[in-house]
Amino acid sequence: MGQFRLPWVVGLPAVAVVFAGIGLWRERAAPSYSYYRDVAPILSRRCEHCHSTGGLAARPRLGTYEDVSKVGAKMKYMVQARMMPPWIAENSGICRTWNDSSWLTNEELSTLVHWQEQGMPRGDPSAPSPLERKSLPDIGRADVTLDTGADYTAGLGASAYRCFVVDPELPRDRMLTGIRVVSTDPRMVAQVTIFSPESDEAEAEIARLDREDPGPGYSCYGSPRAEPARLVASWTWDSPSLPFPEGTGLRLEARRKLVVQIHYNVITSGLGAATRTRVDMRLNDIEEVRAASFEALSARDIALAPGKVQVEAEGERAVDRPTTVLGVAPQMHTLGRTMQIDLVRGASRDCAANFDHWNFYSQRLFIYDEPLQLEPGDRLKITCVYNTESTARPIQRGAGIQDEECKANLYVVTR
Ligand code: HEC
Repeated sequence: MGQFRLPWVVGLPAVAVVFAGIGLWRERAAPSYSYYRDVAPILSRRCEHCHSTGGLAARPRLGTYEDVSKVGAKMKYMVQARMMPPWIAENSGICRTWNDSSWLTNEELSTLVHWQEQGMPRGDPSAPSPLERKSLPDIGRADVTLDTGADYTAGLGASAYRCFVVDPELPRDRMLTGIRVVSTDPRMVAQVTIFSPESDEAEAEIARLDREDPGPGYSCYGSPRAEPARLVASWTWDSPSLPFPEGTGLRLEARRKLVVQIHYNVITSGLGAATRTRVDMRLNDIEEVRAASFEALSARDIALAPGKVQVEAEGERAVDRPTTVLGVAPQMHTLGRTMQIDLVRGASRDCAANFDHWNFYSQRLFIYDEPLQLEPGDRLKITCVYNTESTARPIQRGAGIQDEECKANLYVVTR
């Protein structure tokens, strides 16, 4: 035995050569991916709750090798452009991360892309990786349900936006801690925003608008068209439930009616399709949760030159008391491309949110994994970037379908 044992110093170079060899091989050969081992678990976790029978996008189905390989090139394009899964808040960690994010990690993205480029190898069906579907958040109980009361047939243009006046019949003030949106055709409802009129005059005004507009509800686009009105929820279609940040809620006043504003998407169900929407509200008593509110960070003026690939609007807000920002509901109209929020403290500037894949249909309340702590003296800056190539006239700030907005509704609690 002894004669075969090499002194360790002599053995070292040989070992080094072997390791160097492995290193070279690693660098040269791209990892190879297979459907059953690498791709199916990602699609199951990230896509299939929508892309399967009964999901929001029954087509394309992404549950079998045959289904996926048929749409491989399109899938690669959609994930590279970050159009799928739908999620507009950058989540790589460069600019904070968000609760329950659907953003693909770089590793997931590169696996899907490389697999497609490698000719979509099937791999070994007898040894698949375990699959797990994404579990969507759920508010659980519904204490009060807002019913829009009738089927609504949405069209293109202004008729795709509607405000419904609903009375939650609250005998006392309560805290709204989450909503769940249920529609007879969920594919038609892209966004739900809820407002609370803040005066008897505003409430009378929405009643008048409702009365004078034929059909259920009244026409509205960027606002409920009555002032003052406070934002109390901003939801988008990618998940039925939107629980508000843990342990917090927004106050709803007793006997106040609410406005449920709906943006319809007529593309998937076709013109002429109708749907009726209910909003389940989870309520808590006032003393059970901390009172939050939405505070606006916005560009005061917007003046966008037409015909530009890139044109900006900016705004700023000074912080006057210790505040915790738990979430952000960004708001731009259809020309928006990106929105960034920066926290300026003394000479330092820190990214607070980056919505870099804007999609008009995906506006909602995004909730931070780690809340943002603000101190008096801090400033928040908002920068919105638009593409105005499709327009021939200057664009102003406003709540109309021809106008633009540059606003972040910050979900805050005072410390
Ligand atoms: C929240 C639901 C949802 C999730 C999650 C989702 N999709 Fe989609 N997807 C849709 C909807 C809705 C459409 C149809 C949109 C349209 O046609 O405008 C769609 C369309 C597509 C299309 C077809 C586009 C076309 O033009 O034909 C592809 C491919 C696709 N998604 C891939 C994916 C992949 C891959 C994932 C996961 C990495 C994913 N999607 C996750 C909802 C979703």
